[in-house]
Amino acid sequence: MQGTVILKGQVLSFIGSPFADAPTDAARLDEAIALRDGQIDAIGDLDDLQRQAPGASVVAYPDKLITAGFVDAHVHFPQTAMIASWGKRLIDWLNTYTFPEEMRFGDAAYAAEIAARYLDLSAAHGTTTMCSFATIHPESVSAFFAEAQRRNQRVIAGKTCMDRNAPDGLRDTAQTAYDQSRALLEKWHGVDRISYAITPRFSPTSTPEQLEAMGALWAEHPDCLMQTHLSEQVDEIAWVHDLFPNARDYLDTYEAHGLLGERGLYGHAIHLEERERARLREVGAAVVHCPTSNTFIGSGLFDLMGLMREGQTIGLATDTGGGSSFSMLRTMAAAYEIGQLRGVALHAAQLLWLATAGSARALHMTDRIGNLRPGMEADLIVLDLASTPAIAQRTARAEDIWEALFATIMMGDDRAIHDVWIGGQSRRG
Ligand code: GUN
Ligand code: ZN
Repeated sequence: MQGTVILKGQVLSFIGSPFADAPTDAARLDEAIALRDGQIDAIGDLDDLQRQAPGASVVAYPDKLITAGFVDAHVHFPQTAMIASWGKRLIDWLNTYTFPEEMRFGDAAYAAEIAARYLDLSAAHGTTTMCSFATIHPESVSAFFAEAQRRNQRVIAGKTCMDRNAPDGLRDTAQTAYDQSRALLEKWHGVDRISYAITPRFSPTSTPEQLEAMGALWAEHPDCLMQTHLSEQVDEIAWVHDLFPNARDYLDTYEAHGLLGERGLYGHAIHLEERERARLREVGAAVVHCPTSNTFIGSGLFDLMGLMREGQTIGLATDTGGGSSFSMLRTMAAAYEIGQLRGVALHAAQLLWLATAGSARALHMTDRIGNLRPGMEADLIVLDLASTPAIAQRTARAEDIWEALFATIMMGDDRAIHDVWIGGQSRRG
């Protein structure tokens, strides 16, 4: 049991969705937040919180903004060391940079080194939960979960299954993918703050038999999330049509094998057909927007507002290392820029909501993470809204908190993350 810690600053929490309500009405500001035993105990005035917990220690963050930690709904931790690799589009990029790097994760020591490096980097950028692809190697999943467990961090990950169109040494089979995924799931799912996600990489790298095996595993463990990729690039979609001539569309390659469901997470989802949009919405599946990746690999402009208006569930993600940054601030900025290219100006409240509560909703974890409320897990960040001279001079002009936050969203990086609390513990110690 830990004693109560009270953090004093500007505590920003969401009381609604800034896509449903007027953006600024969806949030509230309080003076302080009390943490106890890894959870949020109370939010309100400092005096009230101190009265409720006499003897609590108080950490003051003058002029800082306290929000929920960022939730990155789609990353590939094994791509940490090859982020920002030049000059290729999706399939070429996978073959040239990604697969050779992923090959190295059969070495448990290398997998552990990169898992720790990734979790250090993402925490320094304010990300407290992520949903990650690993590699085909079970060692890569164990390394990631062991490192997250050591940090008491809430994470989701799974073995990335591929049994075709990948190099020698980076393919499993339908049977080994099923067996290894099941063994990992049974070992790790629900242990401490860890969840397992069934993870077929994408239709081009799985035979119908492997997709079927993944679908069977999901049917046996329906409380697990299932993550994959969908309709990222036009060439990729044409390839899927060649590989699955009987499929009605890309989503159908998953649907036909039991891989479409409410707990499904479909990364990218840029070039969707009407039937795909309708089915995603009907089943309540989540699509995950990865804006820095979409511009970096040249994939296309995600229809965030159109999808939101039709009631889709949408998460936000870096897609490290197809994405070009570990920062969810930079990711929000890219979402804003893609919105502008589509004629939509997203509000700072909408961007922050997507990076916290929105992603938590996509991950079916709104009762635990992605917002600041009593009873939720104490994962939060302390934002410095004047972290560089360029941002500070802009913030000095800001008329309200949203204008100040927007400058940090557009111009900020890890220097804006003053502190990170994970499971009620400060990274700064
Ligand atoms: N599609 C299949 N695998 C990947 C990957 O690793 N990154 C991205 N961006 N798209 C993919
Ligand atoms: Zn991805």
